[in-house]
Amino acid sequence: MGKIYLETFGCQMNALDSDLILSRMRAEGWSPTDRKEEADVILFNTCSVREHAEERALSHAGLVQRLKKKRPDLVVGIVGCMAQNRQERLFEQLPHVQLVVGPRQMGAIPRLVEEIRATGRRRIAVADFDDEFIDGAEALASRASRAQAYVKAMEGCDLSCTFCIVPTTRGAEVSRPPERIVEEVRRLAGQGTVEVTLLGQTVNSYGKGLRPAIDLGGLLRRVHEVEGIRRIRFITSHPSFVRPSLVAAMRDLPKVCKYLHIPAQSGSNAVLKAMRRGYTVERYLEIVETLRRELPGIEIASDFIVGFPGETAADFEATIGLMERVRFQNSFVFKYSPRPGTDAAGLPDDVPEEEKKRRNQVLLDVQERVSLGKNRARVGQRLEVLVEGPSKRDPRRQTGRTDTHQIVNFEAGRDLAGRFATVEITGATALSLSGSLA
Ligand code: SAH
Ligand code: F3S
Repeated sequence: MGKIYLETFGCQMNALDSDLILSRMRAEGWSPTDRKEEADVILFNTCSVREHAEERALSHAGLVQRLKKKRPDLVVGIVGCMAQNRQERLFEQLPHVQLVVGPRQMGAIPRLVEEIRATGRRRIAVADFDDEFIDGAEALASRASRAQAYVKAMEGCDLSCTFCIVPTTRGAEVSRPPERIVEEVRRLAGQGTVEVTLLGQTVNSYGKGLRPAIDLGGLLRRVHEVEGIRRIRFITSHPSFVRPSLVAAMRDLPKVCKYLHIPAQSGSNAVLKAMRRGYTVERYLEIVETLRRELPGIEIASDFIVGFPGETAADFEATIGLMERVRFQNSFVFKYSPRPGTDAAGLPDDVPEEEKKRRNQVLLDVQERVSLGKNRARVGQRLEVLVEGPSKRDPRRQTGRTDTHQIVNFEAGRDLAGRFATVEITGATALSLSGSLA
């Protein structure tokens, strides 16, 4: 058939979608390449969550115009969230782009590429329902024989946080039937996968619309039975759906990692309300307290947005307060970026860029102090690590992650990729632990 080059922006869901696209293309006879110059098809799987992410994708896609000029048969496509968000406008902005496909239509890509090659005409598929969905269970090729694999549990989001474009780009919430998920996990395990991460925009609201009724706790119980799987993770959770059945599953099932990513976004009730997050700071703290009481050793991670419209100095102080009080294992901090079409885009973006930058840095500094303190407390412990392989920064060392998702770099003397190792922790920075094979 030819060669495909695929570049991915954004979240883990996009990384998984890209693997699924490549698997499908392979099944149709295409071979992946990491060199644009030799590709017959170039696809960009894009993110819309912040303006910066869209700008990066647009500029990368713009740069391949010179290749298209040299080789008119080359098919250039934009897929994923920005495709859904901008639709036909992308053809106007980037005249060399011939293919635009949204997240819920990814299964159509091989067919549409063929049509473009046959007719020379543009193709667009942006229906926001699962018309040509790619199901992971039938597309394992690109993920096979990896120790760690992503598995889609649900997709889309039925909430309406006022800053967020995701409900527009990913569409309404749809959960995959548990049988499909378990079948996929079983097949991955048969090919050597030991850790699966279940994905969803609000993965802990899993199960909506499924009959017989099931929730994430129930799904975890089913996946837990799959032989060969040793660790189960799931991201991203929403604070409002941390239900007793989920806490019980995390407590009862040893393979489920004691790590929960529940973005708080802000520590101010006024801002949370304007964001339409559906909880207060007090409620968030109660959830954290329950988790820590029921699941000793659990680590909690968060996302924060700074500079949301109307965020005062006092609101921001409250966010610092929340961060210091909860002591998250790690936090992702973002400067607010207005997304056209969202409700918050109608509010004045009134925190100056310089101040957003400053708040961003202050939160990163607070988190760094907390992370360093937490990591230092682990020195002297022996921790079980799933090894990813040689460290990028120092290939003589191995790198892996603990149950609670800390990075551990260690001396091993050999490549242990895909294996579990017990590491004696001797050093700590804010970002990682180090040690040697115990
Ligand atoms: N629940 C989703 C959230 C997607 S966006 C998921 O994890 O799949 C990821 C994070 O980006 C959010 O938690 C939020 O902190 C940040 N974010 C979303 N929209 C944003 C915007 N308009 N400006 C800045 N940050 C944003
Ligand atoms: Fe976005 Fe809020 Fe859903 S952050 S993905 S609208 S839970």
